Amino acid sequence: VSEIRSIEWVPRQPGAPLPGSLRILDQTLLPERLVYRDIIRPEEVADAIRRLAVRGAPLLGVAAAYALVVAAQQAQQAGADTADAVRRAAALIRGTRPTAVNLFHGVDRILHILEHSSGSDDLALEIWKEADRLHREDREACEAIGRHGADLLPPGSRVLTHCNTGILATAGRGTALGAVYEAFRRHGKLHVFADETRPLWQGARLTAWELQQAGIPVTVLCDNAAAFLMASGQVDCIMVGADRIAANGDTANKVGTLALAIAARRYGLPFYVLAPVSTLDPSLPDGSGIEIEYRAAEEIVRPWGRNIAPQNVMVYAPAFDVTPAELITAIVTDRGIIRPPYERNIAAACGSSGSQRRATP
Ligand code: MRU
Repeated sequence: VSEIRSIEWVPRQPGAPLPGSLRILDQTLLPERLVYRDIIRPEEVADAIRRLAVRGAPLLGVAAAYALVVAAQQAQQAGADTADAVRRAAALIRGTRPTAVNLFHGVDRILHILEHSSGSDDLALEIWKEADRLHREDREACEAIGRHGADLLPPGSRVLTHCNTGILATAGRGTALGAVYEAFRRHGKLHVFADETRPLWQGARLTAWELQQAGIPVTVLCDNAAAFLMASGQVDCIMVGADRIAANGDTANKVGTLALAIAARRYGLPFYVLAPVSTLDPSLPDGSGIEIEYRAAEEIVRPWGRNIAPQNVMVYAPAFDVTPAELITAIVTDRGIIRPPYERNIAAACGSSGSQRRATP
């Protein structure tokens, strides 16, 4: 599994990062095919994000930053205005997907470099350095989340998860799955239940695939079997990721997460959200301000190119939902485990972050 790279910067020649290209694993083709794509234009990154070829909140942040690197590199090679090209690419990337705050955070990190640039000739290199730093920070954040999260998973734990929060969703080993990987490394006694995660099957296609690669026992279930699994005593806890966490702890994550949290409360099971502090958005007082992405109807009624509902039927297609903080047992971050009262404790976690700048969608 450690050989799987969801994202990578590939220099054209050894010794210097630029010129180079952004290599992404095209997640739309998994689990059937492992295809990497080399990207040299910001429009290609935007397209990959919209198609969910790259996805998962932390990975979107890293991809967004590299999109601005390719824009800078392209402008510099063409003798065009680099800063202008980067600003245009920033607007393009911001318009791709609205919910994951990390995407905006990644763009803002690079724009900050642009605004404070020394005016050196090699603006593209300065921007690459910041993207590379963000990339490494995400990898380290995953390690820390994994360590804190694994403390919640004693030997024999049976974990229910939703969507994909692992190697494929981050630049490291993941958030909720990061905890699973670390717990499995510690004691090897763990079972994961992966919701298939309609409409795009990130659980069945991606989570089951990467856990199987790692030799971790995993069972796939339909999303609508999760409540019965809990009711029949087969789960010890629920661990999910997040796309954006408001100041009061309300959490946006893949649609279906809310139903899990409600069922978990009914059956007295701990419900954990695992995310880096870069997913906290203290600018939003609560979850009502989180913009939810709605996807094309075809993704629901025409999967794999086949009609599974009558033509022109009306479709409800939110990609995310918001779980109220009151249903969340704890939020596991790279800075430690945040427990209620969330308002105070999230503010403290953000306050201790020098790098946590306000994301501006
Ligand atoms: O639409 P996706 O696949 O990008 O949605 C991903 C999720 O909802 C994940 O749970 C979240 O981004 C956390 S990934 C560590």
